[in-house]
Amino acid sequence: MSLYVCKNAVGRAGMRLFQSPSSIMVGRGLATATSEPAQPSSAPRIKKFQIYRWNPDTPEVKPHMQDYEIDLNQVGPMTLDAILKIKNEQDPTLTFRRSCREGICGSCAMNINGTNTLACLCRIDTDTSKPSKIYPLPHMFVVKDLVPDLTQFYKQYKSVKPYLQRAEYPADGKETLQTIEDRKKLDGLYECILCACCSTSCPSYWWNQQEYLGPAILLQTYRWLADSRDHAKEERKLALENSMSLYRCHTIMNCSKTCPKGLNPGLAIAKIKKEMAV
Ligand code: SF4
Ligand code: SF4
Ligand code: FES
Repeated sequence: MSLYVCKNAVGRAGMRLFQSPSSIMVGRGLATATSEPAQPSSAPRIKKFQIYRWNPDTPEVKPHMQDYEIDLNQVGPMTLDAILKIKNEQDPTLTFRRSCREGICGSCAMNINGTNTLACLCRIDTDTSKPSKIYPLPHMFVVKDLVPDLTQFYKQYKSVKPYLQRAEYPADGKETLQTIEDRKKLDGLYECILCACCSTSCPSYWWNQQEYLGPAILLQTYRWLADSRDHAKEERKLALENSMSLYRCHTIMNCSKTCPKGLNPGLAIAKIKKEMAV
């Protein structure tokens, strides 16, 4: 995937727009190591990491790539291990999000060697002849270094009312049941961790993210449209009856290619379009 860096634009609240990249680690001292280092071998294997840096407190310093070197014999296998080691031992100012370190929280999403993915699930390329390049998620305002501003993303998520809506609930006050077959329709949807890798790989979302919902939020929309227990289907479909919210998807399928959880937002969008036609 191509990368585009807006060299001059400074976004809202002093944030910088990074074009074509829940806990925030902003120079908070030592971070916890995530995996056991590899067994030491005799010869060091020095790997260079080139990491995007930008600090809103020093706006006169333009965004730039900073080089760090790590011996791969002294670090765990994942890219998150590498950036935690850099933060712990070389540069406590390096800023990124992470929490679970096992692909569940979605907070360590970033662009690694040209692909939007989760740093905790992305193995370090052990070819020491070339550097690993790490950027924030593309086409988002940057809060600092590898931390994108997800305000608009979550605003869009809220807008699709991502919760069960029913006209009435069971009189006995117990669960709202569904059949095993209906439950199966949610497989491939409920697993989404809202990491935003797919939306920030989508050219339509890059250019229209104020109005186009993007693949992550549309997958979430379909998750509720597909739920046999939900009573707000017509209202949900009506909210998509405009030229921008849904129909900016042109089936380019970057979204499905990049999802680190192996989900298929492009297919979910196609299913919404089919339901809209009914
Ligand atoms: S569909 Fe995949 S890439 Fe998109 S937000 Fe969900 S988990 Fe992340
Ligand atoms: S299939 Fe649609 S949502 Fe996915 S990348 Fe293409 S345009 Fe974006
Ligand atoms: S740290 Fe939670 S998904 Fe990577």
